[in-house]
Amino acid sequence: MKILITGVAGFIGFHLCKKLLNDGYQIIGLDNINSYYDINLKLSRLNELKKAEIKSNSNFIFKKVDLVKKEEIFQIFDEEKPDVIFHFAAQAGVRYSIENPFSYIDSNVTGFMNIIECCRKNKVKSFIFASSSSVYGGNTKIPYSEKDPVDHPISLYAATKRSNELFAHVYSHLYGIPSIGIRLFTVYGPWGRPDMAPFIFTKSIFSGEAIKIFNNGDMNRDFTYIDDVIDALAKLIAKPPVRNNKYDSSKPNPSKSWSNFKIFNIGNSNPIKLMKFIEILENEIGIKAVKEYLPMQPGDVKTTFADTKNIENYIEITNNTSLEKGIKNFINWYKEYYSK
Ligand SMILES: NC(=O)c1ccc[n+]([C@@H]2O[C@H](COP(=O)([O-])OP(=O)(O)OC[C@H]3O[C@@H](n4cnc5c(N)ncnc54)[C@H](O)[C@@H]3O)[C@@H](O)[C@H]2O)c1
Repeated sequence: MKILITGVAGFIGFHLCKKLLNDGYQIIGLDNINSYYDINLKLSRLNELKKAEIKSNSNFIFKKVDLVKKEEIFQIFDEEKPDVIFHFAAQAGVRYSIENPFSYIDSNVTGFMNIIECCRKNKVKSFIFASSSSVYGGNTKIPYSEKDPVDHPISLYAATKRSNELFAHVYSHLYGIPSIGIRLFTVYGPWGRPDMAPFIFTKSIFSGEAIKIFNNGDMNRDFTYIDDVIDALAKLIAKPPVRNNKYDSSKPNPSKSWSNFKIFNIGNSNPIKLMKFIEILENEIGIKAVKEYLPMQPGDVKTTFADTKNIENYIEITNNTSLEKGIKNFINWYKEYYSK
């Protein structure tokens, strides 16, 4: 089976690709290696994938391409004819969308459209794409459930992710493309994203710079360890959604559809107080953080908390890595990679 992964030089795409190469799949990876964060980290991840390819004796083809280049993307699909698509390339980040709105429209709306059109033309077996916990927007009902209405996004990033879910529903309804949207909750771990709190805090603690603590630390995040996410994603390959003829459209339910379409939260379902998170980091690194307390940032939410019953009923979820263990793995990687 041929699997195409977009965003393969990114944090999650990289880990997924590594796992699927080890499982013996043939992988086509796409990424434009943009400079939203350190390009060297993206190139190092690609190097790791080359090593994984050799070690596992599987096949990895990398193509540097921007998703907005429709003709190039169409050509790759025509030539490679992938069976399963994991669409993980996106302009990520909530805060950056305040300053760079069009970057989100290009990658997350136009880019998404190009990929899903290719899925239609090539009749793929499964289309699995990254959505985000940020679609829950201004909701304060916790835990966040797929049953909840998600009509109040508070960042452009969230609005583009919600639009992806809506586009995918249309394509599964009209063209029968089996589609799964994954709402991810603050994923962290080795090879993680330099623009996210676990990485930013770690970097600052090592260098003695003050860490910026927003909303004076009164925040909770459902930190989810990367291996747990990858384990679930890999299991979804064998479970493309099927049509649900029992769906009662006279009682609309945001978590369900008549179509071969699903939305799942993937999270740890155990929100951690930000200050507790910092304490675990300090203990693992062995250095106390210098703290700067600041007000809430626009576009941010106070708490994220995943209700994960839906995915647990769909596939077997076995991993649930503790924050202590996950942070230990992350710090070990960080020390080795940055020679600390
Ligand atoms: N990491 C998280 O906690 C988290 C949480 C919620 C949702 N997500 C979503 O999961 C997906 C993967 O996230 P990640 O943490 O790996 O992010 P990442 O930024 O590390 O990876 C995204 C990759 O996509 C590539 N890319 C971006 N725009 C592109 C374009 N136009 N053409 C080609 N390549 C492009 C980037 O170069 C990058 O390597 C994203 O869709 C993100 O929105 C992540």
